[in-house]
Amino acid sequence: MGPVKIADNIYWVGAVDWNIRDFHGYSTYEGSTYNAYLILDEKITLIDTVKEHLYEQFIGNIKQIIDPKKIDILISNHTEMDHSGSIPRLMHLIGKDKPIYCSKMGKKNLSLHFGDKFYFIPVGDGDKLSIGKRELMFIETRMLHWPDSMFTYIPEEKILFSSDAFGEHYATSKRFDYEVDKDELFKQAKKYFANILYPYSNLILKLVEKIQKLKLEFNMICPDHGVIWTKNIPDIVSRYVEWSKQEQKSRALVVYDTMWHSTEIMAEEIVKEIAKEQIDVKLMSLKSCHRSDVITEVLDSGAVLIGSPTLNNNIFPTVSDFLTYMKGLRPQNKIGAAFGSYGWSGEAPKVIEKLLEEMKFDIVSPALRIQYVPNAQGLDMCRDLGKQVAARLKQLK
Ligand code: FEO
Repeated sequence: MGPVKIADNIYWVGAVDWNIRDFHGYSTYEGSTYNAYLILDEKITLIDTVKEHLYEQFIGNIKQIIDPKKIDILISNHTEMDHSGSIPRLMHLIGKDKPIYCSKMGKKNLSLHFGDKFYFIPVGDGDKLSIGKRELMFIETRMLHWPDSMFTYIPEEKILFSSDAFGEHYATSKRFDYEVDKDELFKQAKKYFANILYPYSNLILKLVEKIQKLKLEFNMICPDHGVIWTKNIPDIVSRYVEWSKQEQKSRALVVYDTMWHSTEIMAEEIVKEIAKEQIDVKLMSLKSCHRSDVITEVLDSGAVLIGSPTLNNNIFPTVSDFLTYMKGLRPQNKIGAAFGSYGWSGEAPKVIEKLLEEMKFDIVSPALRIQYVPNAQGLDMCRDLGKQVAARLKQLK
């Protein structure tokens, strides 16, 4: 992809990663982009870089606009290497003495990645930097989602460079929100939120409040992944607020794996009963569904039921994988329950229940365990669990 002019003298010069399908454990079926932005002013300024292996695409884009050696300033909004990976090669080309503006934690973290050989200049929340006609403002966004994260804002054009916030892993030849399918865009934005920003929901709500108090206006929000927000800014901001509030929803999600179909039979019976009670419910097998898709459904579900057979006195590996992932993403305000078939010891449902309790899930019913294959009585117990979950969710309607 070539460079794209996004405003007068401001260009997208990032890279499109069409073929990436795994982003540190997150399934990126639609690829991704790493966005970098070039501002032509008295001081030519570059915001962020790209993953190291896409350096040639990125530098090729800059070269179509200016000689990269003319860049005066680099701003690093975030240290993670999908945005900083090309810094060493870039600085070698443009001059190691050129300043790299970053947050205080950015200076520390960039030094821990690349050593002290670059001229890092730390900036704080609200600090300003004149680059000529424009005076950039920095907004510290610590832990959204790394300690070093920050935003850069151009008041003159009302453009926010929002680092990972408002991003999507979505490779496309288009650069703006109004050019792509809206449903697909919001689907990818939600998945991104669920897999990257979910644990920091409270910080997002505080940040939105702070930005409202500052009375900042936005013509454009330029994230480091996916497309640039223009026409859909109010919509994506209100969705971030909605997702961050984590209000309970009257919807159930049943997640499971199975060895000899007994836990699967249980899961299906529970789902049938919940549906019979007119509650929206979704069934996801961890053999078929990726953890990052399941967690996206968790975001929309008031109840999450987890089923696992007992294998070697413990939970099934895929279930363990998912629970570890979900624990790290810290969903709030969930009703939960555990279930599973077992042969002789039956630890799995109890282990799951304990983990759900540690995650502060409200356990709706004691772990349901059925030996070997569910019989008529066992199926009754599954239906009873489904009924209890449905009854709790109906209270939310
Ligand atoms: Fe896109 Fe936190 O890096």
